[in-house]
Amino acid sequence: KKSISKQHSCQKITNLVFFYLQGWVRSVRSQKEVLFLHINDGSSLESLQVVADPSLEKRDLTFGSAVEVQGKLVKSPHRMQNMELQAETIRVVGPCDIWSFPLKMKERHPLEYVRQFPHLRCRNNTLGALLRIRSEATAATHSFFQNNGYVHIHTPIITSNDCEGAGELFQIAVSWAKDSAEETHFFNVPAFLTVSGQLHLEVMAGAFTHVFTFGPTFRAENSQSRRHLAEFYMVEAELSFTESLQDIMQVMEDLFKTVTSTVLSKCPRDVELFHKYIAPAQKVIISYSEAVEILKQAPQTFTFKPEWGCDLQTEHEKYLVKHCGEVPVFVINYPYDLKPFYMRDNEDGPQHTVAAVDLLVPGVGELCGGSLREERLPFLESRLQRLGLTDAYQWYLDLRKFGSVPHGGFGMGFERYLQYILGVDNIKDVIPFPRFSHSCLL
Ligand code: 4AD
Ligand code: MG
Repeated sequence: KKSISKQHSCQKITNLVFFYLQGWVRSVRSQKEVLFLHINDGSSLESLQVVADPSLEKRDLTFGSAVEVQGKLVKSPHRMQNMELQAETIRVVGPCDIWSFPLKMKERHPLEYVRQFPHLRCRNNTLGALLRIRSEATAATHSFFQNNGYVHIHTPIITSNDCEGAGELFQIAVSWAKDSAEETHFFNVPAFLTVSGQLHLEVMAGAFTHVFTFGPTFRAENSQSRRHLAEFYMVEAELSFTESLQDIMQVMEDLFKTVTSTVLSKCPRDVELFHKYIAPAQKVIISYSEAVEILKQAPQTFTFKPEWGCDLQTEHEKYLVKHCGEVPVFVINYPYDLKPFYMRDNEDGPQHTVAAVDLLVPGVGELCGGSLREERLPFLESRLQRLGLTDAYQWYLDLRKFGSVPHGGFGMGFERYLQYILGVDNIKDVIPFPRFSHSCLL
């Protein structure tokens, strides 16, 4: 008993092999002399062709049904496939009511259509390919960091901090504690779903030097946009003994290149279903101040007028990427007042900046966000004091008292990464179960 993909890659099978196949019927074609089936078990895009005597056909052997077929695996006479299965027995394990089944045989359903059926859309070819690619990219991400000496840290989902300080938090409530103070709290203590594992990674970088995490993060963003989710996966790295943004950008680039080349080599058939990915020939690095000048001189008008000190909007990111030749663009050194408390003060002026970096990519916009962290106690103390956060972040200040080192890191939105390399328009189609404002199906 082997999965279809393993058999397909096994070139040595030339003689008869007894085979036991389990999967779902992708097509049924009944002829006078012969019955053809295509069975898919999800291990690859390929379906295995089953050739059977018409006497084995049953009423409930339809598109979508789950079957078990036993027979002999033989070299196929057809050019398009290596092998086919000559069935001896066919058992319908679970029939499928084709009239109410929303997927139809041999139809190319648009992604927006299958999104309505979160419990069934993984049986669609495109979604199937996407989720296998996602699985390979996940494994490749872990391998990249493990092979480069990073320690993997499980950062918590439930936390008391708002790392980004943007107030986009989901608060935890105890469901059974009706009409009590506990109802809106985590056992009487305010707690939230994490927006980023960064601060916990900073703790660990103070002991393990290089660390990473890769898990779900949550943002209460009331957005239906094609690049925002309320629950998304973030790949985050933190590096101690790092004094330059260049080092952080290098890790972003190496991560991107390694994971992408692994995906391209491990799932070529799945990747073929999407747009042809062309590795960018170069990258561009500009400062935030340069970016604002480019935007001010743009021949087009923007809904949000570009001004030094204002955040870059989607329309601005899009224009910058286009202006730089549709290649990845690193934007560095953002205004001090625009960014969270943890970013390192560049001590410049009169336009005061922090050592922040965002990576913008064609078609998606912001893919990664990172920075050097403020490791100097007096700087951090005065910033937290001005924000009224000193009490909440005593533990974070402690890290600067007990063996503080220059450090930095970044986070990459995993769904945006998949969107970019595969050219998928909507972020809801690159995650198994999308959660976004006003939608939590299943
Ligand atoms: O830029 P962000 O907010 O950075 C942080 O959270 C840092 N604490 C990360 C770090 O330095 N360790 O988020 C990082 C990335 C963004 O660049 C974007 O790709 C993705 O996470 N992201 C989202 N993806 C989908 N839906 C959303 N609502 C997202 N918000 C951010
Ligand atoms: Mg950001």
